[in-house]
Amino acid sequence: MAGRSLAVVILAAGQGTRMKSALPKVLHPIGGRPLISHVLDAAAGLSPESIIAVVRHERARVTEVITNHAPHTTIVEQDEVPGTGRAVEQALAALPASFDGSVVVLSGDVPLIDVATLERLTRGHVEHGRGMTLLSAVSEDPTGLGRILRDGNGAMLGIVEEKDASDAQRRITEINGGIYVFSRHALQRALAEIDTNNAQAEKYLTDAAARILAAGGVVDAVATDDPWLIAGVNDRVQLADAGRELNRRIIEAHQRAGVTIQDPATTWIHADVTIEPDVELLPGTHLHGATSIATGAIIGPDTTLVDCEVGENVRIRRSEATLAVFSPGAQVGPFSYIRPGTELGAGGKIGAFVETKNAKIGDGSKVPHLSYVGDATIGADSNVGAGTIFANYDGVAKHHTEVGDAVRIGSKNVLIAPVTIEDGVYTAAGTVVRKDVPSGALAMNVAPQRNVHGWVAENRPGTSSAQAAESNGKERA
Ligand code: UD1
Ligand code: CA
Repeated sequence: MAGRSLAVVILAAGQGTRMKSALPKVLHPIGGRPLISHVLDAAAGLSPESIIAVVRHERARVTEVITNHAPHTTIVEQDEVPGTGRAVEQALAALPASFDGSVVVLSGDVPLIDVATLERLTRGHVEHGRGMTLLSAVSEDPTGLGRILRDGNGAMLGIVEEKDASDAQRRITEINGGIYVFSRHALQRALAEIDTNNAQAEKYLTDAAARILAAGGVVDAVATDDPWLIAGVNDRVQLADAGRELNRRIIEAHQRAGVTIQDPATTWIHADVTIEPDVELLPGTHLHGATSIATGAIIGPDTTLVDCEVGENVRIRRSEATLAVFSPGAQVGPFSYIRPGTELGAGGKIGAFVETKNAKIGDGSKVPHLSYVGDATIGADSNVGAGTIFANYDGVAKHHTEVGDAVRIGSKNVLIAPVTIEDGVYTAAGTVVRKDVPSGALAMNVAPQRNVHGWVAENRPGTSSAQAAESNGKERA
């Protein structure tokens, strides 16, 4: 096909005043990543010869995020002349003079645009030999957006920005979505003629429509029936709206791929999360970052996983975990707090009110109740009794605890690191382990128990305890 060569320009120079934020608008996240990264992905989906991003406001921060996400992006800095037209004009200067293909223009603040729509728009543009094709939508509330002007036959005449529009023009409901395909040379000629003589004293990209028509070119707006594709983010209300819609789309895609999601309204899944079929997500589940969930796992309710790897048939209930690996069949929760570096072996358990950090817990090993396991390695098939603390911090530095295979740590132990407990050891309830324990030994340091007879009657006369003790004594007598 002629004119197959393609470049994409992404506009990201604006400040985003209406966000009222120290963070540049295009860096605000939805679906767990900056707005601009969603647009970069859409651009990359077209496999263009080049992607050019135009930056100005907070250019160092914006550039860093762009080049981290898409290293081959060409960065162009916009000068002091304001406006979307100026931004694109400067981007074109970064293209080789010989490039005469199509230029797709995207906005860094329109994050839900998808590859299929851009492909269709670009194909139509080329097939109809247009100078400009833009994506429009009919909107019940067009406030703030550019309006598409058409003659009585429906032929497009141009675009008028709301601030420059007459009352009659403001009643037009077909709006400019800010997503365009241009022919490079038609666009470049048009931009050279555009001035800043308008209500915002900016060089408007939208003025290219009337200029291309005046030069004898063909221009059209193609309406989409999915207004979310062109939803712009200009303030925090629109940020939340776009984020919710993105989440809805992500959830629907997982459901169609075989994931059971009981309550989409309270389930939040970031864009980079992967989930195999026959996973079940219960209400209030949040899957963030690069989390992956293998088949058969059941997560939730009320669980947040950040950058976690969850194996087959794992069960996690009412818990929070970051940078953790759960091997197949492991069980977690309720109310576990799992911090970075936790690895739970196959069939292992981290139970109720247990906190872990930098802890490798072997296959079949269990920490069922009320414990802290920090900076530790536990072998296979060991059990840690309720209320046990791995005391890893001496006030200055963190130290490591090593526990072998088939160890039975009694309830309410304190294991003072650095310390090693070898294979097959038992420790008595309440033991404070300060010395290494050799294989097969029982460690204990409990003081002998003494019962002081009659102490309650003597020291707590008349209390319910004393009465209970007295009647018990009579019964026994
Ligand atoms: C723009 C369109 C409007 C359309 C709307 C759709 C113009 C003049 N108006 O208005 O017709 O309905 O998008 O969302 O184009 N930017 C730069 N450099 C600048 C100014 C802006 O790179 O000097 C970037 C911004 O960072 C943003 C994008 O261009 O990503 C759009 O700018 P914005 O100010 O949000 O334009 P709108 O007022 O939304
Ligand atoms: Ca905008």
